[in-house]
Amino acid sequence: MNRVTQYLSVGVFTEYIIVQGIVFLAGLPAAAEPPSTVSRQSAASKHNVSSVKKSGKSTMTKDQSTDVVLGKKLYKMNECAACHSIRGVGCREGVPLDGVASRRSKRFLSEQLKDPEEHVAKNQKAFNRDPNLMPQPNLDDREIKFIVKYLMTLR
Ligand code: HEC
Repeated sequence: MNRVTQYLSVGVFTEYIIVQGIVFLAGLPAAAEPPSTVSRQSAASKHNVSSVKKSGKSTMTKDQSTDVVLGKKLYKMNECAACHSIRGVGCREGVPLDGVASRRSKRFLSEQLKDPEEHVAKNQKAFNRDPNLMPQPNLDDREIKFIVKYLMTLR
């Protein structure tokens, strides 16, 4: 109860600021890194390479929470809440996604986002034999990965 109230009051605003920062920061290394890494790579010793790997590993948890935040943003941008609700936010008559991570696997969610029509047809039992009503969201693999990471936090 406490966590929910806290989230609603400060969470939403803070999250907006964080997302803006992350989107900005995420753009920088992606644009700046490849050329400099390639030209230095030829001269780089094995030691250098492994230290790069190490530092990559240490930020793993940070990266993962970044992915979740991006996934949440993509969920909003793609208007999934027009048909889905999470904690009562969104379309209450639609399919609630609360606890979806406890019901479904990562793969199940990825396939649903990749091609709902095909996925529902293939998993009729999981959908109570209802016909597919979810439109093709036209997401690329990275967007699907981020959204799935977010959905997997909904336990
Ligand atoms: C036009 C309404 C609509 C929109 C928009 C929509 N969905 Fe769906 N979604 C559904 C319906 C209805 C189902 C139930 C299965 C079916 O009929 O396809 C579903 C099923 C799902 C499921 C499987 C849930 C479960 O428990 O099996 C997930 C996950 C999901 N949607 C995520 C999303 C995400 C993420 C977005 C945004 C990119 C989105 N949906 C956009 C209507 C929609």
